[in-house]
Amino acid sequence: MPTLKYLGHTCFTVTEGTDSVIFDPFLEGNPQAIVGPDDVDVVAVLPSHGHSDHIGDTVRIAKRCDALVIAPYELAVYCERQGCKTHPLHIGGGRDFPFGRVKLTMALHGSGIMEEEPPIYTGPPCGFILTMGGKTIYYAGDTGLFGDMKLIGDLNTIDLALLPIGDNFTMGIDDAVHAVKLIRPAKVVPMHYKTFDPIMVEPEEFAEKVAAQTSSECIVMEPGASIDI
Ligand code: NI
Ligand code: MN
Repeated sequence: MPTLKYLGHTCFTVTEGTDSVIFDPFLEGNPQAIVGPDDVDVVAVLPSHGHSDHIGDTVRIAKRCDALVIAPYELAVYCERQGCKTHPLHIGGGRDFPFGRVKLTMALHGSGIMEEEPPIYTGPPCGFILTMGGKTIYYAGDTGLFGDMKLIGDLNTIDLALLPIGDNFTMGIDDAVHAVKLIRPAKVVPMHYKTFDPIMVEPEEFAEKVAAQTSSECIVMEPGASIDI
């Protein structure tokens, strides 16, 4: 059974046997992070978009671990130019890798590396459907609510959904509760809250509404915590 570990903000590892993959490795400079970019050991890095709180330490971790960066094409090209091994995918496309299957989903958000002038174009943002160790995980990335989340739930049996709840830049709590109704995951874990001033929402409010309005199990994780998927 794969395990999920929360590293703060929207950074998680999924581990099955000796293989770990990491979503959005924003560790250096992340006020929630409890480990640094040199403390993780992964076979693949999955950055959802170019914003600094998501691409984060992708290049550093991928190079040190000789890990594969799997990302939307434009973002993969950027990482390749920084010296990473990459495999580009694009929205709607998936591929089997030795550790499991990765498919890209749409996400309603922006992308781009805004610290550079001019900003570097990194294509559209994405979410991921990761199948690993017999479990299917939907990592929504940064996104607003969209109706095609119902398709994701209809076409996949989602064991675990990782959804942003922080409002301001992404879905807030009530939209994220509606997302749970569309996706119908067995378990849901909230993310993208309390890291920065504009996203100071209470995950317990989300958990209470999920419990009252859906049959999914909501698990609020502290950075450093792990759960079985
Ligand atoms: Ni973003
Ligand atoms: Mn973000």
